[in-house]
Formats: sequence, structure tokens, C-alpha cells
Amino acid sequence: MSTKERGMIPGNEGAPWGWTDRHRSQHVAIVGATGAVGRELAQLLLAAEHPRERIDCLARRFGKLELALGRVKLDVRPLESTREATDFEGTDLAFLCTPSGISRELAPALCEAGVRVIDLSSALRMRPDVPLVVPEINGGELRGAPRLVANPNCTSAIAALPLAVVQRLFGLEELILVSYQAASGAGSAGIETLHYEAREASGAPAQGAPPQSPFVARLHQNVIPAVADVGPDGTSGEEQKICEELRKILGLPGLVVESTTARVPVERCHSVAIHCRLGADLDLDRLRAELARAPGLALTEDPHGPRPLECAGSDPVHVGRIRAGTRGKRSLCFFAVGDQIRKGAALNALQIAAALPAER
Ligand SMILES: NC(=O)c1ccc[n+]([C@@H]2O[C@H](COP(=O)([O-])OP(=O)(O)OC[C@H]3O[C@@H](n4cnc5c(N)ncnc54)[C@H](OP(=O)(O)O)[C@@H]3O)[C@@H](O)[C@H]2O)c1
Repeated sequence: MSTKERGMIPGNEGAPWGWTDRHRSQHVAIVGATGAVGRELAQLLLAAEHPRERIDCLARRFGKLELALGRVKLDVRPLESTREATDFEGTDLAFLCTPSGISRELAPALCEAGVRVIDLSSALRMRPDVPLVVPEINGGELRGAPRLVANPNCTSAIAALPLAVVQRLFGLEELILVSYQAASGAGSAGIETLHYEAREASGAPAQGAPPQSPFVARLHQNVIPAVADVGPDGTSGEEQKICEELRKILGLPGLVVESTTARVPVERCHSVAIHCRLGADLDLDRLRAELARAPGLALTEDPHGPRPLECAGSDPVHVGRIRAGTRGKRSLCFFAVGDQIRKGAALNALQIAAALPAER
């Protein structure tokens, strides 16, 4: 697999995802290690040959995190305090794969105690003093070695990667995005719920009590046309995040963005249909050539792709169905699919950590 396919940052080649001996010497904590994202991050760290004795896993209670088909078992201990850094003696870097309420309290406490923090929740993303980073796009924001970095919303990160190329070539004036978001975007409860509902629908005998569903309705055989709570203006929280975060990551505060987010009965990978109004005339050949070259992207010529089932578990954001729109020469449409637990969360966070310079 090439450097580009593995989503590596140019200049960090030679180690998986740019994870070198300097990074492996750090004591790393994963808070929320038993969740969908924390577990993936632990797998990625092991794949990047981070010593397992320097990976500290925290969640709500004591337990074991079984990885690599049960071949590796990491101890999990409970997080004692969200307000103080007492659990983090000797920790160099903490990944917060936790609900927003926990990150909001814990991140400042850790920074205060000198621990570097990469927060994967939405708690701090829009704070002006916190960089919101997709390394291939705005990795330059890490040059000043910030102590706290936010990882974007999964759909924002997936959409931003191809959009950054479009912006560089033609400029962006308006965007319409429609997302088809996987069950695992709602964490391990989302995956368990989809499995349970599918099993129940097949008539197979129930195995244990039904999980507590994070969805407002049955998801199996269904589409729920709003992800997260819907506000009084009819916009969902997820739609608001996508609009605000895309403007911040792309550095385009005036960009007009409209989005609709839907939850679909897919286990893994978010898909996004994107319609753009450009600042200059579209040149499709040039766009295809640049998308094919850009780090972190994989272009497909399959007229019916990319699709989540085939993209699950892979690093790049897959882009296809690239075509001129019908609204004049500045109109572009395409489809993007990314494994949101990897590039939308754990992998992007690991890449941020890899790209962070040593603290002075
Ligand atoms: N899933 C995605 O695709 C995705 C993508 C981008 C960003 N994110 C964000 O990443 C974060 C984690 O998401 P997820 O999908 O992994 O959620 P998840 O599967 O529900 O996992 C949540 C994790 O947080 C832990 N936790 C919850 N309350 C805690 C507490 N009071 N003290 C200590 N640990 C606690 C849980 O521990 P227990 O197992 O012990 O309960 C679990 O390890 C969220 O902020 C989410 O918005 C998720």
C-alpha cells in the first residue's frame, strides 16, 4: 500500500501513519478506550508498533480490551476524576474518545497538568483558540506545537478532504451536502443496536436483553432523516456541526453550506453526496488528476461507487461519481465515502499526534 493510500502526511513516510520511535517513546492514554473510536485507536497504535506497556486505557470501569482477535488484551481502568489530572501521572499524550461533557472538563485539566490532548468529541472544536485539524489540509496549524487539538466531526473530516482540493483549484462559494451516516457513528451502542435489530428481523433467537438504542426509531430496514437532536429551526445538531466545522477547517468563514444528515442501516463508513458552486469554471480532467494525487484520497472510476461496504476498514476517503452539475460551468457534483471510525476519528487523531512537533 502506498504512502498516499495509507493517508500518511508527506514528510512522515517510512513509519505507519508517520508514527516513529519519537512517538513510541511517549506514554499515551486513551480515555474511552472501550468505545468504538477508542478501540480503533488502540488497534492503530498497536499496528504502528507503539509498545503496549505505554498505552494506558481508561473508561468507566475496570476491564480488559481484547484486540487483534483476542491475541492482545490491554487492561482498562476507571477514570476517577474528570476535573483533575490525578489519573494521568507520567502521561505525555491523551486521546479523549469520550462524550463531550467529559472532554469539556477533562481537556483543560490535562493541559494545565502539562499533558498534550487530542480531543475527539465536539466539546472544544469551535473554540477560536483550539485548532481543528485534518492534517492533510491544515496540518500547518500544528507547527506551533499546541497542547490541545480538536479532531473534527466524522462527516466534516470526510467531506473536507476532497473539498480542500476543489477549493484550491477553483474556489468554493456554496455547498450542499447530504450524508448517509453509519450506525457506528453513534458509538458501540449504535453497532450493537443494528446487529440486534437485524438478528431479530431474521427470526433468530434473541441473545440477551436488547441494547439501549441511541436512535429515535428502529434503524434496520429504515432511514432516519436527521442525525442527532433537531432544534427549533428544524436543523439537526449534526448539520450545524458540519457547516461550522467545514468553514473552520477550510478557512472559509463566509462559505454558504447547507446540509441534511441521515442515519442509514450501514455498520461502518459515512457517505456524503456533495454539490458545489465553484468560484471559477470547472475543469474535470484537472480535478480528477489532482484528486488522484492528493494525500488521503482514493479516486474510483466505478460508475456505481464508492460504497461503504467495500470502503470499511480502509484509510483514505474514496471519491467518485465526479461530474459537472446542471447549474452552469461552475457547478460540480461528487460522492465521497470514508470509514468514519478511522479517517473521521481514530486515524485522523493519530495523524494529528504524528504531525505534532515535540514540545519545546
Ligand atoms: N463513532 C464515531 O464514528 C465517531 C467519529 C468521530 C468522533 N466521535 C466522537 O468520539 C467520542 C467517542 O465516540 P464513540 O463512538 O467511541 O462512543 P462510544 O462507543 O459510546 O464510547 C464512549 C467511551 O467513553 C467512555 N465513557 C463514557 N462515559 C464515561 C465516563 N463517565 N468516564 C469514563 N469513560 C466514559 C465509555 O466507557 P464505557 O465503555 O466504560 O462506558 C466508552 O469507552 C464521542 O465524543 C464521539 O462524538 C465518534
